[in-house]
Amino acid sequence: QNCILVGAPMDSGKRSRGCLMGPDAYRTAGLATALTDLGHSVTDSGNVAPAPFTPGQHPKLYALEETVAWTQALADAAEAAFHEGLPIFMGGDHALASGTVLGAMRYAQAQNRPLFVLWLDAHSDFHTPESTDSGNLHGTPLGYVTGREGFDAFPNLPYALPHDNIAIIGLRSVDAAERAALQKTTIQRVDMREIDETGIATPLNAFLEKVAAVNGMLHVSLDVDFLDPSVAPAVGTTVPGGATVREGHLVMEMLHDSGLITSMDLVELNPFLDERGRTARLMVDLTASAFGRRVFDRPTRAY
Ligand code: ARG
Ligand code: MN
Ligand code: MN
Ligand code: MN
Repeated sequence: QNCILVGAPMDSGKRSRGCLMGPDAYRTAGLATALTDLGHSVTDSGNVAPAPFTPGQHPKLYALEETVAWTQALADAAEAAFHEGLPIFMGGDHALASGTVLGAMRYAQAQNRPLFVLWLDAHSDFHTPESTDSGNLHGTPLGYVTGREGFDAFPNLPYALPHDNIAIIGLRSVDAAERAALQKTTIQRVDMREIDETGIATPLNAFLEKVAAVNGMLHVSLDVDFLDPSVAPAVGTTVPGGATVREGHLVMEMLHDSGLITSMDLVELNPFLDERGRTARLMVDLTASAFGRRVFDRPTRAY
C-alpha cells in the first residue's frame, strides 16, 4: 500500500483540549516506521489546518464555526489524499470524521463505488445539533454523514450515507436521543453485550461480507475509547468495559485479511492524558495489525 498520513490536529469537537497533540504523538510513537517495516510506502503529508472562520456565539453548540471550518478543510484534504494512496488520518477528536467521511463519500461517488463505514467506538456519535445535550460536536459525525436534520451550517453532502452501509462496534454509552434514533435505523449496532455473547469476530465478519459483496470502499474510524480505559487511558471520554487489546488486534487483523480498508481515522487520542505514551503506542500497534503485522501467517495448523 501507499499510505498517506494526514495530521488532523482538530480539538474543537469538545471542551477539554489536548487532541491537537495527537498527530505528533503518533509520529513520536513511530507510526510511519511501523508501516514501512511492513513493506508499505508511507508519505507524511503534514498537518491540515482549518479553513478561515469567524468564531460565533451559539447558545448550545461548542465551537461550531471552527468545527465547520475543519470539516471543509478535511473533506478537501481527504479527497486529495485518496488520489495519492490510502489515507490514514491522525486525529484530532472524532468531529474530524465529519470531514474525512465527507471526503471519502465524494471520492467513492466519483469512483462509482459504495462507501461503507466501520465505527469502532464506545459511543454512537449519532446526535444532531438539536439532540446533543453536551453541545460537543464530536458526538455528531455519524448524524451528519447519514443526513440527519440540523446540520445546515455544515457543507452539503453529495448524498446521505445509507444506514445499511454502517456498523458501530463497541457500544456502551449511548444517549437516550441517540438510542431512540438509532433503533429506527438499519445501522448495525454491536454493543459490548453482543461482543461478550458471540465474540467480536461474528458481527464484524457479517459486516465485511456485505462490503465485499458489492466491492465497497471501507472507511474505518477508530476511537481510542473503543478500547478499555485500563489499556488506553489517553482519552477524555473513558467508559469502562471496553474492548481488550486482544479484541482490538483481532478486529485489525481481520480487517487486513479482508483487504477492504480504503481509509482510516485514528481519533480522540489526548496525549496530555497518556501514561508514558502507552495509548499512542497501542494505537500504532493496532494500526500495524490493520496493515499486515502478524505473529504467524495463517493457517498455523500445518505442523
Ligand atoms: N454522547 C456524548 C455526547 O454527545 C458523548 C460523545 C462522545 N463522542 C466521542 N467522539 N468521544 O457528548
Ligand atoms: Mn467517537
Ligand atoms: Mn476527485
Ligand atoms: Mn467515543
